[in-house]
Amino acid sequence: MARIFSGIQPSGELHIGNYLGAVKNWVQLQETHPGALFCVVDYHAITGAYDPAVLRARRWGMAKSLLAAGIDPAKCALFMQSDVPEHTELSWIFTTLTPLGDLERQTQFKDKSSKVESIPAGLLMYPVLQSADILLYRADSVPVGEDQIQHLELARDTARKWNAKFGQEYFPEPKPLLTPTRRIMGLDGQSKMSKSLGNTIGLMETDDEIWAKLRPAMTDPQRVRKTDVGRPEVCNIFQLHKAFSSAETVAHVDAQCRTAGWGCMDCKKVLQEGMVQELTPIRRRAEMLDTEPQRVLDALASGAETARGIARETMREVRGYMGL
Ligand code: ADP
Ligand code: NA
Repeated sequence: MARIFSGIQPSGELHIGNYLGAVKNWVQLQETHPGALFCVVDYHAITGAYDPAVLRARRWGMAKSLLAAGIDPAKCALFMQSDVPEHTELSWIFTTLTPLGDLERQTQFKDKSSKVESIPAGLLMYPVLQSADILLYRADSVPVGEDQIQHLELARDTARKWNAKFGQEYFPEPKPLLTPTRRIMGLDGQSKMSKSLGNTIGLMETDDEIWAKLRPAMTDPQRVRKTDVGRPEVCNIFQLHKAFSSAETVAHVDAQCRTAGWGCMDCKKVLQEGMVQELTPIRRRAEMLDTEPQRVLDALASGAETARGIARETMREVRGYMGL
């Protein structure tokens, strides 16, 4: 059985792009892959300027949101990266095997480093730590979005190099398990939904808040009047219908749009119903966890214990093979 590892940064409120593109997939994978490991990668969140109080709140918020979204600590290990110090230990070892040029060529590094005056070495080393995150658990499958394929390639190279150098087939070469929902478009209809672009719907937003965002959201730009026929295939609202509405509703929406039977507001109203139906239980569970924070702490403690048990054993063996 393939072992699955995946991580998410504690970067503030989850939005429905993160949910559909990553978290919902994890919730399904914990059913099919017992022993999956899901990690809130807080060490990755400190490579830029940040406020410790904000990070503390975000770590907590992310753990809570993942549990609210359906991550079940009885089925998988949910844990904080910094609770398992072996991540940084293996990361150091991997820095000794990683060519600097490979790191400098990473597109995410080029993007991010061009925006700061002084480049922290940690920003460059980010994919090395990410390789350690995965290989520490000798995971063979990593659910990721397209943007992470390059980083995973580095983890595969690192596994191969370590194995060749120390004469073992110890680390599997982790394979990407591409998330079925690749790219949710933002409400502007222009670019992918992303926190930094302010075009999101938050996972915990209320029914009214959702409607306030859906109402002005971009649809097919060629559909100006209600009598114009629409093209669902270019409409981001239709994409969301496919995520939140039943197959029957999706087919109906498609037909109504193409014949101008419905206006965009009619279509959005039906989408809102579907979203409210899926998101309300998540919001309720999050509210419940706010009143019972110990449940979040317990989940993280048990996740860390499971993860650390594996991590310690890996490091014991790795040190042995390396003469350390
Ligand atoms: P953001 O772009 O809002 O900062 P992150 O980069 O922190 O989001 O992404 C966290 C996870 O959610 C990643 O696995 C990423 O692939 C996924 N994700 C983010 N935005 C989207 C989107 N618009 N569509 C699908 N998946 C997304
Ligand atoms: Na991002």
